Amino acid sequence: VLVASGIGPDIPSGKPDGSDISHVLTGYRADLLTDLDALLPAGSVAVVEDPGVVATGHVRDRIGEVRCLAEVIDAPAHGEGDAERLAAAVPRPAGVRAVIPAGDHGVVAAAALAEAWGLPGAGVRAARLFCDKAVLRETAGAAGIPQPEWALVREPADVARFLENRDGVCVLKPTNRQAGVGVQILARGDDVAAAWAHTTGVHGRLSAASPAADPRYLAERRLVGPELSAEILVRDGEILFFNATGKKVLPGRHPVEMGHVVPAPPDGEVHGRLRAGMAALVEATGFSTGVLHGEWILVGGVPHLVECAARLPGDCIVELIGLAYGWSLLRGMVAVLEGRAPTLPGPAARGAAIRYLSAAPGRVRGIRGDGAARSRYGVREVLVRPAPGEDVEPVRSPWQRPGHVIATGADPEEAVRTAEQAAAAIAIDTGLP
Ligand SMILES: Nc1ncnc2c1ncn2[C@@H]1O[C@H](COP(=O)(O)OP(=O)(O)O)[C@@H](O)[C@H]1O
Ligand SMILES: [Mg+2]
Repeated sequence: VLVASGIGPDIPSGKPDGSDISHVLTGYRADLLTDLDALLPAGSVAVVEDPGVVATGHVRDRIGEVRCLAEVIDAPAHGEGDAERLAAAVPRPAGVRAVIPAGDHGVVAAAALAEAWGLPGAGVRAARLFCDKAVLRETAGAAGIPQPEWALVREPADVARFLENRDGVCVLKPTNRQAGVGVQILARGDDVAAAWAHTTGVHGRLSAASPAADPRYLAERRLVGPELSAEILVRDGEILFFNATGKKVLPGRHPVEMGHVVPAPPDGEVHGRLRAGMAALVEATGFSTGVLHGEWILVGGVPHLVECAARLPGDCIVELIGLAYGWSLLRGMVAVLEGRAPTLPGPAARGAAIRYLSAAPGRVRGIRGDGAARSRYGVREVLVRPAPGEDVEPVRSPWQRPGHVIATGADPEEAVRTAEQAAAAIAIDTGLP
């Protein structure tokens, strides 16, 4: 359609036989593809994705729209258990240099293709461990990594029992979802049956086209303390880059992330312990090459593992790292997946923070203060999602957050202050206080 209307790409795309493909992306993610477009040549990327997702997401329409994208390959990219079948289904592009996982569902697929094609990657065994929270807990527990008590639960009665036998507070979560989908903090007296119905009934965004196989559920003791994440770049099991991110979470039953700051204050001992925790995870899982994004909660100063993903972090953390260190984690990841030594940054030169906006649920009547917020010193980006006339929902998942502010500062504290002040100055008026 684009070509027919005369506004197609002015750079020729890859040859139809795939001979220009140098990078294969497992799983389709619009934002990652856009970021890769800044790094990779025209027509150099093939996306491997489930046929259902390709069809419902109109992924083939992006060829020509995104300069680097040359080809979309229909293959069972979500089949976590069936890595061999995937490798057999996708022919190796002659000039392939790296396989890059897009979101969680591409992690095992990327590892499988990389392994089959003799390229660096997570390793299939390690990739599988990071795709199931119960399996990761077993692995971390065996390695002595601090984490909450946990149990697999099969019915509401299991959850009720777990609640009673602990402090009367627990976390219920699916083992193989992300972005907080189905994660609930429960307390004694809550309706466990209703909570169970919610957690087992909700689905990730791709589930209609590609349901997660065999959902299982975990109950965990609730950890209370400051929340952090760690982002590491790993090559052949060696940590080349480490960053600690501080995180702010919505209080209440649905712990949606409301802000991040890079690097996490305070520096020093906690960063050392966090780095040691990530190194222990690399060792315990046998993870080889790529990026890990681990979430931790500090209890008595000791980082306890919440979960860890074998992919780039979401929530603009890559952008925050870029602003703070003047360095691209994505570029670093592409380098190690190509088998190259990446250029590495020094310590963070400034702080960078994101704060999500909030608004009373309702129909948006108007938006005020966003222009002024944008022009504040230190503010790098302001995004207000809903337009007047659209609805703001109560925030139970990341997709319901009505916008964000990204700011930098001389240190992380200043970045947070600027982001918070700018966010507070933006009024999304829904006619409610
Ligand atoms: N055991 C726990 N104790 C306290 N908070 C938890 C615990 N497990 C999860 N959370 C909170 O819930 C959020 C989402 O849970 P997580 O296990 O990270 O699932 P997801 O893959 O959906 O992000 C975490 O970022 C954290 O804020
Ligand atoms: Mg998480």
